[in-house]
Amino acid sequence: MLILKTRNELFDFIQYINAKNLSLGFVPTMGALHDGHLSLFKRAIEDNQYTIGSIFINPTQFDNQNDLLKYPRTVEDDINKLESVGCDAVYIPGVEDLYPNGLECDTIAMNGLDLVMEGEFRPGHFQGMATVVKRLLLQINPTRAYFGEKDFQQLQIIRHMVCALKLPVEIVGMPIIRESSGLAMSSRNMRLTPDFKKKSIFIYQSLLKAKELSSHYTPQKVVSKIEKMYLNTDLKLEYFTIVNEETLLTANTFDDCKNYRAFIAVFAGDIRLIDNLQIR
Ligand code: PAF
Repeated sequence: MLILKTRNELFDFIQYINAKNLSLGFVPTMGALHDGHLSLFKRAIEDNQYTIGSIFINPTQFDNQNDLLKYPRTVEDDINKLESVGCDAVYIPGVEDLYPNGLECDTIAMNGLDLVMEGEFRPGHFQGMATVVKRLLLQINPTRAYFGEKDFQQLQIIRHMVCALKLPVEIVGMPIIRESSGLAMSSRNMRLTPDFKKKSIFIYQSLLKAKELSSHYTPQKVVSKIEKMYLNTDLKLEYFTIVNEETLLTANTFDDCKNYRAFIAVFAGDIRLIDNLQIR
């Protein structure tokens, strides 16, 4: 596997791919790879002639400096995992390769998709995320790029951005990979204490409960029942909401011809976890 550490090294690889007109799959990551990431790589390898991943802990998408400092850094291990699944190249740029003019974000229109849920609770997060994804897509020029539905709001924002900027890439969304307990895989899980890891199983259970309740109650009623359930746990609920999957706007009713998804953010101790589930 090629390890490309600068924009110039990347450029030679991309030129080779473009000259031969080969299809290229791209999986952007911030490292600390788990089976959720690897499922994206496996699919990219199946779909394309070549696959490249990136590992870059993007400073502009962290609204909390402590979270940035504590973000797990496991590059050697990540490289081994990518080699083991058969990835062709990994791009591990420095900050100057993506932010040559300092840590400023581009202004990217998001049609309101960034104003709710994660956007409301993590100001600036999506501008930082979209800036780095746009710059990576422009540098790499992939045929397809792969993102997990664990960050479903991120996925919808990227789809919107790619369409608005007319970037010639197909965005592929992939299902959430869960541990056998139901806990959604996340790089943050490795920072959970064993006690909170056990308690966090409740997150997926509450999403399943919301799905069950949604065939009998209105969205607001489902939300208030789930909120009450959290009062009896050690998890601190930041938000639980049910939205129209396309617009990400709060659902007032369940309309049979639309898709609805429940989204949740909780603190398990000082670790913030998110999850979501299509409920109708
Ligand atoms: O989902 C992530 O890991 C990040 O938001 C991404 C897409 C790699 C951009 O930094």
